[in-house]
Amino acid sequence: MFEHLKEKPADKIIALGQAYRDDPRDTKIDLGVGVYKTPEGVTPIMRAVKTAEKQLWEAETTKAYTALAGDPLFTDAMVGLVLGDAVARDQVSTIATPGGTGAVRQAFELVKMVNPGARVFVSDPTWPNHLSILAHMGMEMVPYRYFDSTTCAVDFAGMLSDLEGVRAGDVVLLHGCCHNPTGANLNMAEWQSTVELLNAKGAMPMIDIAYQGFGDGLEDDAAAVRYVASHCPETLIAASCSKNFGIYRERTGILMAVAQDKATKKITQGNLAYLNRQNYSFPPDHGARLVGMVLTDDELRADWQAELEDVRLNMLKLREQLAGELQKLSGSDRFGFIAQHRGMFSRLGATAEQVAKMREEHGIYMVGDSRINIAGLNDRTVPILARAMIDVGV
Ligand code: LMR
Repeated sequence: MFEHLKEKPADKIIALGQAYRDDPRDTKIDLGVGVYKTPEGVTPIMRAVKTAEKQLWEAETTKAYTALAGDPLFTDAMVGLVLGDAVARDQVSTIATPGGTGAVRQAFELVKMVNPGARVFVSDPTWPNHLSILAHMGMEMVPYRYFDSTTCAVDFAGMLSDLEGVRAGDVVLLHGCCHNPTGANLNMAEWQSTVELLNAKGAMPMIDIAYQGFGDGLEDDAAAVRYVASHCPETLIAASCSKNFGIYRERTGILMAVAQDKATKKITQGNLAYLNRQNYSFPPDHGARLVGMVLTDDELRADWQAELEDVRLNMLKLREQLAGELQKLSGSDRFGFIAQHRGMFSRLGATAEQVAKMREEHGIYMVGDSRINIAGLNDRTVPILARAMIDVGV
């Protein structure tokens, strides 16, 4: 039967990483996949995670299964981290998942199970894998305007006007903070208007939050998701620990479903555990356990927060530097948006041809839509990128 398989298009973010590795030039610069790097180009294991790992090695006496929905040490701590006390705990059902992507997939599975005809509204643009998973699952998706490529800011009027088209039972996928790929985010007033519209239409928000702590800080980055969860009757939230705990390969994420009441929560919880069982049975435990340990130990948590804050401030500094350098070279303020964007990414507004030219002539690798990973830069490479952008006519 395998001969009947059709070629699949390569994932463009993953393929870009391979192209970078295959490039023999030692001047090449990797601004592709969303992985944090220090100025030395290293993706470190965070101190608190390493300490928790040592403690776990000493203390762990069995590798027997935990709970189907994941260990409560992890899921409870994550509800606290993401939702704070915005909603009552007895309204929130949870499953641990293999990464944030696993949570996204399980969220779509849940939606499809309840309402096979549900349409999922997605920002244009969004993380390409959102679209790929929806297409793979045969779910209908409807893009809504999000990014204005002239101003490189959110096109909120366009977004609201497109969301006027949602119907009861539809799902609207939103990025909780640090929008991927653009770096342009809604302000609080815009979140409020969005919630008002969704509630009026009877559509459900689904929030993907993969970069909490990378934008304006752990609490500020959670403000939107907390607002939505406490103002909508039901909310789905997919959260990733890959980036803010730096445990990418451990595959650690969580899906939360905020229900209207305790009884609905109970049945939702059972369905989420069922979905874990059908798709991979028990979720991975190692990364989840480390996160649970870090979040529930005062010392580890303080150290993790301090390191995460350094990561965030480093990216902010790089944003300022790049915007400043471009201002100098172009003699205009048109790149000021880079300092306004938040999170790991910015979409620069370059054309596909300009992106290709930067790769071919300057060895600078960014996603074809001109998304850069800010953390791929350092003091030395910021001026190189700025010069290349001006050279190719961005
Ligand atoms: C990204 O957007 O680069 C990250 O979320 C990594 C990935 O899996 O695509």
